[in-house]
Amino acid sequence: MRYDFPDNFIWGVATAAQQIEGGMRDGGRGLSNWDVFSHIPGTIEGGGVPDTACDSYHNLERDVEKLKELGVNSYRFSFSWPRIIPDGTGEVNPEGIAYYRKLLTLLKENGIVPNATMFHWDLPYALQVKGGFGNRKMIEWFLNYANVLLDNFGEDIKYWVTFNEPIATYVGNAKGFFAPGLSDDAYARQCCHNLLVCHGETVKLFRSKGFRDSKIGIVVDVWKHYPADADNEEDVMSAMLANETEGYGMFLHPLFIGGYSDYLNEYMTQNGVMPEILPGDFETIRQPVDFYGMNFYNVLIDDTEKQRRLAEEHGGGGNYQNRPEYHTELLGRVLREIIEEYRIDVPLFISENGIPQVGLTDRESILDDQERIEYVEKVLKMLHGAIQDGIDVRGYYLWSLMDNFEWSAGYEHRFGLYYTDFDTLELIPKKSAGWYADVISNNGLGE
Ligand code: NOJ
Repeated sequence: MRYDFPDNFIWGVATAAQQIEGGMRDGGRGLSNWDVFSHIPGTIEGGGVPDTACDSYHNLERDVEKLKELGVNSYRFSFSWPRIIPDGTGEVNPEGIAYYRKLLTLLKENGIVPNATMFHWDLPYALQVKGGFGNRKMIEWFLNYANVLLDNFGEDIKYWVTFNEPIATYVGNAKGFFAPGLSDDAYARQCCHNLLVCHGETVKLFRSKGFRDSKIGIVVDVWKHYPADADNEEDVMSAMLANETEGYGMFLHPLFIGGYSDYLNEYMTQNGVMPEILPGDFETIRQPVDFYGMNFYNVLIDDTEKQRRLAEEHGGGGNYQNRPEYHTELLGRVLREIIEEYRIDVPLFISENGIPQVGLTDRESILDDQERIEYVEKVLKMLHGAIQDGIDVRGYYLWSLMDNFEWSAGYEHRFGLYYTDFDTLELIPKKSAGWYADVISNNGLGE
């Protein structure tokens, strides 16, 4: 059987500024919250810092060469706020603008459609010290930044994403293992609320510009938890809590239905972590968007008994440490359920999908990434089925073009189609790169 994708299907790869650019102090760039956080000893696995990363700041041509080699028709990247406005507000950095202008020119020359994210976690440190997203002034700061981006690059970008995975702001302020490294649940919820208002205001600003062909949306990752046993109350509660109070429900409900869900409202009230919400906020947040980008990596099956056992055996550890099981077969179900639950009636993208290689050190084994091929193949087959069933998915972006700075996991998790040699800054195709290039050139896959 063949899995042919619709004509004009978007095949892409995704990256983010903080993870690939490096050039931390080059070209007038200011510091970000992640620059500072990652330099605190003990925050990043293996002690990796993003100062140089893949050095894409000095290697744009190299990156675009690889995009051409893959044959992608779209590239999802993000703007670095501290490169555009080093202090967050005030002076705009002309070298920062020039850098992205050059990227856009190269993409255009090669017929690659840009999909650009305004905020992929790298907040100017100057704003972090003023409270970051917890400070309501953030709405003004963010709008000013968004305005600079839209005035400079507006119609040159087909797909604008306001925010990537807002949950990272929750994690960084409530759980401590992302920047800025705080552990304050109430503050984190205020940050997320303010972030959502920033999103809504940005959509309004975008609309006021009257662009003809550009679209705007947001990316929310979905790691849906299902109870292992639907009759086991502990499993059911665990999944519900994860989805609603520390997962996609925090964002998709206000974005697409309006307001927080009853469950989340009750949870926040009972735990004394309800954010301050001003009149009109929920209307602002629920601005109609043109698309929804879903980052999909996996589904989690909450088997509370087994999790307790694993935690004991492995001394805790996250999903990856405990050998993940990939439930790709549930992708279609997740898509259907999310669309139905949140009444999403706009086109979708899979804005990120991929797997890391963890714990491998020798280059040859890293280049032979058969596991990635098998995983992506399964995901694409599921996606094909979902599209056949009428789900309006317009494109797929593989995470990531090359191995890069994987946040708190540093350089220990390699997500790339290309192997990054962090000494020579050379990008070497893994087996999956050739495989993905074939999928793209055939607009689908066989078998
Ligand atoms: C989600 C994030 O958007 C991206 O920055 C990260 O590297 C990947 N997932 C992989 O964890």
